[in-house]
Amino acid sequence: MVSTVVHVPVLLDEAVSLLSPDNETSTMIDGTIGEGGHAGYFLSKFPGLFLIGIDQDLKILEKARERLKPYKRRIQLINGRFSHVFSNYNSYADRKPDIIFLDLGISRYHFEESGLGFSFLRDEPLDMRLDRNLKLNASYIVNNFNEKELVKIFFDYGEERFARRIAGRITAARRDKKITTSGELAEIVRRSVPPAYRHRRIHPATKIFQALRIAVNGELEELKEGLLPACSILQPGGRIGIISFHSLEDRIVKHFYKEMAGNSLNSPEMPNSQSRGEFKIITKKPVRPGEAEVQRNPASRSALFRVMRKIK
Ligand SMILES: C[S@@+](CC[C@H](N)C(=O)[O-])C[C@H]1O[C@@H](n2cnc3c(N)ncnc32)[C@H](O)[C@@H]1O
Repeated sequence: MVSTVVHVPVLLDEAVSLLSPDNETSTMIDGTIGEGGHAGYFLSKFPGLFLIGIDQDLKILEKARERLKPYKRRIQLINGRFSHVFSNYNSYADRKPDIIFLDLGISRYHFEESGLGFSFLRDEPLDMRLDRNLKLNASYIVNNFNEKELVKIFFDYGEERFARRIAGRITAARRDKKITTSGELAEIVRRSVPPAYRHRRIHPATKIFQALRIAVNGELEELKEGLLPACSILQPGGRIGIISFHSLEDRIVKHFYKEMAGNSLNSPEMPNSQSRGEFKIITKKPVRPGEAEVQRNPASRSALFRVMRKIK
């Protein structure tokens, strides 16, 4: 398939500088390989590096395979959820990682090419499943969850201030006609918010679409479930680096790192982890893109990158 859009990897130089391999034959896991932007850059910079790439979306994984053909002897690609792969690592791979990298969320491909209804600017079937085997899709949630459940999703995963109004409009609209496309949903949301919010720079449906995507793919649960197994497969001296794109994810990563470094007691996300004190946080504050990167690639504006090292 000929690609029409290419995802621009965020914080590329920062990722290379904070995660550069310590020795020539290091192994890196890219747990969210997407189109292979970061992966390709690491492979080109470090000729001895072996890279294991994971993605739950088979279609995008095939794009990465194509793009990384020049490095085919130095990569292994796995279709699956990173939490599952990390938790059952021995059945997937032999090499223990020195570096684990996660660039959370979805890729430009998903918004612009996948046809799965991730974008409020397109009129596509409302699906949003990265893994086509998942049972619940976005259309099911929007048409079947009760108003209270929708409010919770919009508040919890979108931090949407008009969650109640929007959920009310959705349940009213679906009584007349099932909501089946991203365009229909975007229009209902647009009409639900006060007129002053309809024509702002950020589209009024932005947070609702983010919330639905997180709910459909269980993104926060996936992150919480994947962190501890990731740390346990990491070689001593190894590093883990995570780029997140909203405060919900970043909060989970921040608390988890603090817990693993022994700086906090029993964060709500990771109660009673055994490995406390085994890690040292390298980025005291999250690394963010500079102005030039945000200008070049506005999608990078909310990126937050945190790295820690396994010291024991
Ligand atoms: C932001 S993109 C990665 C882009 C990539 N770094 C690049 O430069 O091309 C995130 C990717 O992670 C995948 N993904 C998200 N959550 C996942 C999970 N829990 N397990 C595996 N893959 C996941 C998505 O399908 C998407 O392709």
